[in-house]
Order: sequence, then C-alpha cells, then structure tokens
Amino acid sequence: MCGIVGYIGNKRAVKILFNGLKRLEYRGYDSSGIAVINDKLERFRSVGKINELLQKVNKIKILGNIGIAHTRWATHGKPSNENSHPHFDCANNFAVVHNGIIENYQELKNELLTENHKFTSETDTEVVAHLLEKYYKETTNFFEAAKLTFKRLIGSFALCIISKYEPNKIICCREGSPLVLGLGKSENFVASDILALLPYTRNMIFLDEKEIAVISADKIEVFDFNGVKHTKAITEINWDAILAEKKEYKHYMLKEIFEQPDVIFETIDNKLDEENYNIIFNHLNLTNDYFKSINKVYIVACGTAWHAGLIGKYYLEEFCNMYVEAAIASEFRYRNVPISKNDLIIVISQSGETADSLAALRKAKKLGAKSLAVCNVRGSTLTREADGVIYTNAGPEIGVASTKAFTTQVTVMYLLSLYIAKIKNTISDDKYKNYIDELLLIPNKIREILEDYNSLKDLSLTFHNFKNFLYLGRHFNYPIALEGALKLKEISYIHAEGYASGEMKHGPIALITEEMPVVIIAVKSFISEKVISNLQEVKARDGITIVITNEDVDIPDDLIDYKIILPDTIEPLSPLLSVIPLQVLAYQIADFLGCDVDQPRNLAKSVTVE
Ligand code: AGP
Repeated sequence: MCGIVGYIGNKRAVKILFNGLKRLEYRGYDSSGIAVINDKLERFRSVGKINELLQKVNKIKILGNIGIAHTRWATHGKPSNENSHPHFDCANNFAVVHNGIIENYQELKNELLTENHKFTSETDTEVVAHLLEKYYKETTNFFEAAKLTFKRLIGSFALCIISKYEPNKIICCREGSPLVLGLGKSENFVASDILALLPYTRNMIFLDEKEIAVISADKIEVFDFNGVKHTKAITEINWDAILAEKKEYKHYMLKEIFEQPDVIFETIDNKLDEENYNIIFNHLNLTNDYFKSINKVYIVACGTAWHAGLIGKYYLEEFCNMYVEAAIASEFRYRNVPISKNDLIIVISQSGETADSLAALRKAKKLGAKSLAVCNVRGSTLTREADGVIYTNAGPEIGVASTKAFTTQVTVMYLLSLYIAKIKNTISDDKYKNYIDELLLIPNKIREILEDYNSLKDLSLTFHNFKNFLYLGRHFNYPIALEGALKLKEISYIHAEGYASGEMKHGPIALITEEMPVVIIAVKSFISEKVISNLQEVKARDGITIVITNEDVDIPDDLIDYKIILPDTIEPLSPLLSVIPLQVLAYQIADFLGCDVDQPRNLAKSVTVE
C-alpha cells in the first residue's frame, strides 16, 4: 500500500519528508519520490528502497519549506523511475502523489490525449496532474481546479498536491484511502497514517470521505467536494512515537511477538472491572436488548484478522449458542448474503483501512444490519463508520505479519462472547468467572512459552530448508493451523497449508512424505483422541510430526518427532498459547533464510485497494 507525506511550514521540507517516508516503509513499497518548491518545482524519484533515493538527493542541497513525498506499491505500471510518484503535468506546474486506484483513468487519459496532453508514465495517477493543468487554465485558481479534478475521479484515492502557481499551500483529498492531517506551530503536515507525524505532533485531524483539505503553514481548512466548509475535530493521539521503535529487537515482528503478554493484559485491563467481573466496552453503542434480539452474526475480515474471526465464531457458538458465520471480506462483499436489520456484522481489522473489510461493512449497513468494529487504530475509517467499536490495545503494529494484533483480536472476541453470554444468560456464573480468571493468567503463560524462545531455534534450524509444510488443528485450534501456515508463508516464502485435522483423509494425506513436515496442534481437548489418530495417519506414511501439546496429553512417543509443550489452560483459551510457538517458528525460519521479515516481498501492512 502506498505512503504519502506532506509538509509546509518554517523548516526545510526535505528532512521531514524523508523521516516521514522512513516511518511508512512498513506499509510495503517498491519505489519512492519527493517534490519540493523553492521558487521552482523540483522532483526526485528512485526505484528501490528509500535509501537509494536519499543517495540521489544527498549530493544536492534541496531548499524549500513545502513538499510532498511518496512510497509506491505498484498497481498500474511496473516499478520504474517514470512510474514513481510525484507525477507532473505537461508544464511541470503541479506535483501529485496518490494512494489508491483511479478506476476511470483510461477514459480520462484518452480525453486528455485528445487535448494534446503528453503522458510520461503508465500510471493511473498521472491523469490527476493533467486534469489540474486543464482546469487551472479554465479557472486560474488552484482550489477551484482541484475541486473540478476530484469530481472527475472514480475509485479510491488519497491525493496530495502542490503547485508552482500557489506555492503557499498543499491541497489534498480523500475518497476510500486514509489521510490524516498533523497540526504544528507555524507548520502543518499530512500523511497516510499517524506514525509518520508522531515525532512532530500529536494533534491530528482525520479526513472523512470526499473531503478536501487546504493546508498552509498557519492554518488548515476542510471542505467537501462542492467547496462547502466543514468543521473538524482535533484528536490528540496518546501513542508515544517510541512505542513504534524497534528498541533492542532485530525486527519489529520479534518485538511485537514479545509485546503480546503486555498488550493482551492492556486489552483486558481497560475492559474488565476485575472486582465485580464486569466487562465494560466504552464505545459499544449497542444495547443489551439488541444483543438479545440478534438473529445471526456475521464476522467479516481478511487474512489474519479473519483467523481471529473464525475463533470468535467458535466462542459465540460455544458461549452464546448463536448462529455465526465467519466470512472472508473479499467474498462477502460480492455474495448475495441474506443479511438484514436483525443481524450483526462484526468487522475485525488491525488497520481499520482494509478495502474489502470496509466494503463488507458498508454493504451490511446498507442492508440494515448493525455493525461493530474490532480495531487497533483510533480514528481509522472502520472505527468512524461502524455503529460500535471495541479497540484492541496492541499499540502500533509495524511488522507486516500480524502477531500482537491477532492475539488481542482473539482476546476481544473472547471478552465480547462472555459479555453477550452474560446478557443472554447462556453461561453459568461460576463458569463465567472461571473463564475470566483463566484469561487473566494468559499473559504470564505466554511469557513462560517465550522463555523457551532460544530452544525453538534448533527446531527452526532443522526445518528452515524444507519447501512445504502442513499445519493441522481442530475446533478452536483449526484457525491456529491456518494462522501458523500464513505466518510461515508470508515471511519465509515457504509453501504451507493450514487444514482442519479431520480433513486429512479427504485429500491432503496424499501429500505426506518425509519431505513434508506436519505441524499438528494436539492440546488438551474433548477431541484429543481424534487428533491422535490424525497423528497415526501421518506417521503411518513416514511423515515428520512437530506436535504442539500439553504435558498431560497422552500421545505415544513413536508418533512424535518434535514436541513443544504448552502450559495448561482451558480449551477455549488454548489458541492464545498454541499460536505463540508458530509465530516464533515462522520468524526464526524466515530470519535464518535472510528474508526481509518486517517488509516481506509483495506485501503491504494494510491493503487499501481491492
Ligand atoms: C497478516 O499477517 C497479514 N498482514 C494480513 O493477512 C492482514 O491480517 C490482512 O491484510 C488484514 O489486515 P487488517 O487487519 O489491517 O484489516
């Protein structure tokens, strides 16, 4: 997903622009560029990492107190200098950076070509620069030209523009892709997310859909696409920029794996009145009577968040006796789903900006359903469009591979399920209190597992050259088999499949050889003996077994090649423990292979395009 940074104020723009881009690197990109105004409009672009662009500009003294910058995750046109942002118009009077996709760009490009505009890139974004040129000729006013331009665009776009004609302002807008404005003293900022701005300000304005901001050094004005002025709230962000630093860890992902005990505690602590065992959700906006009236629940998400949703489904079924579907957002948004006003959609998203998840939310709301967001980023689009919000308190998650966001999402779904079970009276008081007590023990149990971090290295070293893995789990741990496989895939590029253990004999068993390690979650469960028979099926075909289990689960030694013992807990909470060694294995294997763990190839931290 692309990254945008803009600055105007009393300092030289170039340093602030580069610092901002560096803090957006985690979003994933393949090229970058900046544009500044210092009498003339100058542009510098490079394929590859930001450091390559830095090497280009370090030889030049770049003055100018206004500028925009961009990291590009290629959608239209391969990574190249010409396709890198910022893009110019024919006469180099406008510079534009963009995050999103302009779906009608070809039609607009054809129109502009007939008007003799010369294009220098394959991108959709470049049409914006030429439209500005066209409408500035008609209006000789930057803001008017911008309004006319934005109204012509169809698709998802966060745009940031500067112009030589009016070098004292940045004009930006959002439609489907996030933009946040940072307020300083005699300086103002704009970026794709707050992480780029935290070193300079905590005071933010979040643009809403179809809003335009006109940013000068001493003021910010916000309008709709018709030029009607909007009053916007200023949100003070309490994330400390250092929270997002790597500290002594080699990668953000490793830091975030080790942060899980603390952030799970934080996620519980601000929602639980421990003395009375009351669960409190401050932004739920859904009444007890509503929860009693719900007909069906749709949990909708993507990737790792969907795995958390799948566990949430098991919780709501088990604790609340509810009818629940856990749907993949990119499928849900195009299905003929019989969702209605008596149904609840729960959208889970770390970033709150995932295009498919937002589309699913909007579809369900349009069909009359109530909506609840489980999200990690305050002020994100999802949290501003859902009826109610439950925040995970994972803090900034920088590693593209989600770890602490996942475990805090599962924690929230566990608390929400107990909350609803209490309202619907589908759980006894004793069981409810016991389930809360067991949850409070989880952070320390995760610490206990992570104490064995180094002993897992031998296992990772043994297996880091295998080309295929199979992950198996049942019931609450079936989603963990999926999650463990995804973690390995996305950071080590090794092929791995997650499967419900019971599905083995329906196909995957044909794959079993000594070349295909099988990671199987065999924790204490009401169906342990079923998992043990799956182990026997694997061993009978000379498969290699890596077994995640508990001390007192009775598994014959000849079925286990490598054993990872977890602390005991109640079965519903076992996913919060069984996922930890799988995160560590994926991380260590990827690190042994020298992979770019925090920014895996082709991946973005939040997929804001479909
Ligand atoms: C997980 O490790 C991936 N980064 C990816 O699957 C991610 O979970 C998915 O894109 C959803 O992102 P979101 O939680 O921000 O919506």
